[in-house]
This record gives sequence, C-alpha cells and structure tokens, in this order.
Amino acid sequence: MASKRDKDGRYPETKILSKNFGVKDSWTLKVAKKNGAYKNLEKALKMAPADIIEEVKTSRVRGRGGAGFPTGVKWGFVPTESDKPKYLVLNADESEPGTFKDRYLMELDPHLVLEGCLICAYACGLSTIYIYVRGEYPKSQERLWGAIEEARKAGILGKSVMGSDFACEAYVHTGAGAYICGEETGMLESLEGKRGHPRIKPPFPAVEGAFGCPTVINNVETLAHVPCIIENGGQWFADMGIQPDPDNPRAMGSSGTKLMGLSGDIKTPGVWEFEFGITLRELIEQYGEGALDGRKVKAVIPGGLSMPVLTADELDVPMGFDALVKVGSGLGTATAIVMDDSRDMVEVCENIAHFFADESCGQCTPCREGCHWMEKIFARIQGGEGTPADLDLLERLFINIEGRTICALADAAVWPLRSIIRKFRHEFLAKMPGHEDAPASTETAGVGAS
Ligand SMILES: Cc1cc2nc3c(=O)[nH]c(=O)nc-3n(C[C@H](O)[C@H](O)[C@H](O)COP(=O)(O)O)c2cc1C
Ligand code: SF4
Repeated sequence: MASKRDKDGRYPETKILSKNFGVKDSWTLKVAKKNGAYKNLEKALKMAPADIIEEVKTSRVRGRGGAGFPTGVKWGFVPTESDKPKYLVLNADESEPGTFKDRYLMELDPHLVLEGCLICAYACGLSTIYIYVRGEYPKSQERLWGAIEEARKAGILGKSVMGSDFACEAYVHTGAGAYICGEETGMLESLEGKRGHPRIKPPFPAVEGAFGCPTVINNVETLAHVPCIIENGGQWFADMGIQPDPDNPRAMGSSGTKLMGLSGDIKTPGVWEFEFGITLRELIEQYGEGALDGRKVKAVIPGGLSMPVLTADELDVPMGFDALVKVGSGLGTATAIVMDDSRDMVEVCENIAHFFADESCGQCTPCREGCHWMEKIFARIQGGEGTPADLDLLERLFINIEGRTICALADAAVWPLRSIIRKFRHEFLAKMPGHEDAPASTETAGVGAS
C-alpha cells in the first residue's frame, strides 16, 4: 500500500468532516447551503431507505463514540414491522475526559450534524430526533437549536422534509453534567426524565429504547460522516483508512477519516482530521509538537481516559481500532491524553480512581464500592503508607470489577489503572517504605493477569 506521508514524512490532514471549520459563519444555514449542506439529504430522499442502509454497511463506518460498533449493522437492527414510533437519540454528551471533538462539529457545522441525523432518520424510519447535549456545552446547544430553527423555517425539518412525504422533528435535550449519561441507556433514562441509571441489555435500544420504542443511538461524529457517504458512495469511504485483515475476522479495519485530538502535557493541544493510519507518535510530534516545555512524553492514553496507557516506547502504533487493541490498548474516542516525565503516576491513578468513584451511578456493588476502595488504596500509597500487598489487592479488585457490572463504566475505570500499575510498578514501590530502590520495570503481570 502506498504511504500516506508526504515527501517530508508528514502525515497529511484530510478535511472532509472538518472542511467548514474556520469558514466565516459556517454554522448558519446560508453559509452551510453555499457549501453544499442538505444536497446529500435531497439525494438520500430519492433513494430507497434499505439502499441507504446498504451504502452505510458498505462504507464499514464504525461508531465514533468509543465502542466502534459497525453503524450500518446497528441501523439494520431497527424492526421495520413495528408500528411504535421510532426515535433517533444523538449522543452529544461528549462526557469522556480529554474529549472535545464532537464540540467542534456541533459549534462549527451543526447543519452537517443535522443532515446526518435526517438521513439516518429517513433510512431507519424514525420520526423524531433528540440531540442529547452535555450541560457544559452551552454554545453547542445554542448552535444546534439555531440550526433546527433555520431548518424548520426552510422546510428541511417538519411535516414534509424538503417537500417529500417524510416527516421528522428535532429537539435538543440538555444534560446536567453526569459522565454516566454518555452511556447510551443512562442517556435514555435521563432523556425520559429519570436518574441516569444504565439499563441491563438486552433488550437493546434498537428494539426497546427511548420511551420503550425502537431507537437508534449514534455519536455526533458517526452521523456527521453519513452525508459524505451518500455523496460519494460507501465504497469510497471504505477505501480510505485501514483495511480489514482477511485472515482475522475480528480485525474489521478502520475505514474513512477520524477527528483525533490531543490534550494534557502537550505543546499544541487540538483536534485534527486524518485518514485512519497516522501513528500516535506522528500525531504527538507532527501536530502536537511534543511535550510541554521541552520535556519528554512519558505515557499516553490514546482515546479519552477509559483505555489502557501506552508508554513512550509504544507510540509507533497506527491510530486505528484493531491496531491499538493489538498493542493492548484501544482507540476509544481517539483524543489522546499526554503525560510528560514530570507526572507522578501514583497521583495520576488516584485522580483517575477519584473520577470514576465520583461518576459511578451506584447501581452495581463492584463499581460503587470498588472504585472507592481503589481510590483509598491509591491515596494510602501516595501518603507513603502502602505496601506491595496493596498492588496485589488492586489486581484482585480489578478482576472482581471487570465484566461484572451493568455498564462499561467500571471496566473503563479498571483499564487505565491496571495498565499504569503494570507499566510503572516501580513508581508505586518507590513510595513504599523499604522498597524505594525498586528497579524501573515495564510490564509486570501481577496477580491474576488477564
Ligand atoms: C461510561 C460511558 C460513557 C460514555 N460516554 C459517551 C459519550 O459521551 N458520547 C458517546 O457518543 N458515547 C459515549 N459512550 C458510548 C455509548 O454508550 C454508545 O456506545 C455510543 O453512543 C454509540 O454510538 P456510536 O455507535 O455512533 O459510537 C459511553 C459509554 C460508557 C460506558
Ligand atoms: S457499572 Fe457503575 S456506572 Fe455502570 S451501572 Fe453499574 S454502578 Fe452504574
């Protein structure tokens, strides 16, 4: 395969989703229409809904909210025979720490987001779109409401979408700042006016979602890809990025482009769009310009907080779903958190455990109690009162939490913490009386390594 790097070895940006970022008044209907907004909706409305779903399947686009589920397959789960109303809930909660990519789309191109929603709604037979936006994003809420009002006045939303016999309405629903309301079923509960307590699955939302009715839930970036898939065809999208591995059915590839970001101890934080395949090191060095104040990168979590950490020696990995799993981490939201060599990894763990303990909804004992215990143990180690037995205790806690809860918040707590302890064990031992001279180690399996 030809290298995507230019002659200077730089991995170029590909501006498809981000093509209107930086355009003056890009969020207004007038400017958006001048730049092609809604022409792909117009095209989609002339297609059979099943053909749109096929095109999205062909594109192999995978969900951009963190789990990477194939979008076309999800759309295919919506029962066509059901006579209940059907909904689209757009996950615009963007609650993952270090993640701020959807915000760019909502603030700078809300009509692209709305167009993606409308094509999805038409393809899956959905009559109402709820956009669940986190409470901390007032500008996103304002821009989306503005786009909805403009679209309604222009006949793009309402009883006859663009003059067709497809009827659809859209509303913005504001969250109140809970991480768990980004989890799809916690979000549905919150939308229904209840506490954001995740539901046991099955039933899955496509069959029984909002208000007990079939519901498609997708991330903002996922649906923002749909207009260009309709414009250029699913195969065009599938040809971009990283191809599936024919010898490994689980390696489904990473098609298309992705908004990727950097935050933390990085000279130039930000969000850029690339075809999948840029390495984490290239992202950090070419776009982030390295660690702050000329320091060295020590550790990176590639996508938000909820993924295993990578050390400075592990950064030559392509940013893609399968490639990151292969090195023991995951793409997550593709917005990396960078830690430089001044970071105290025990303090990092205490901080991470505090976040998850604080955000646990409390329904499951392993998550509710376990996250608090982890926080307490890290505080004990940080206070110079830990012993190596605490690290074994933490490993046993991880085993008793992972995979034993209603939702993945508890797993998301375990993954970064376990990897940090294994890769930076010497830093933990160095705080324990009598173990200060422990040699620096990379991977240490610990108790019950999985
Ligand atoms: C604790 C937790 C928080 C989550 N937060 C978000 C979020 O803020 N935004 C998002 O799109 N998905 C989030 N997800 C993933 C959603 O549950 C769901 O997989 C996603 O919205 C599906 O859309 P996609 O297939 O387009 O990615 C979260 C999951 C968990 C377990
Ligand atoms: S894992 Fe945690 S956040 Fe998820 S449902 Fe259970 S208690 Fe709530």
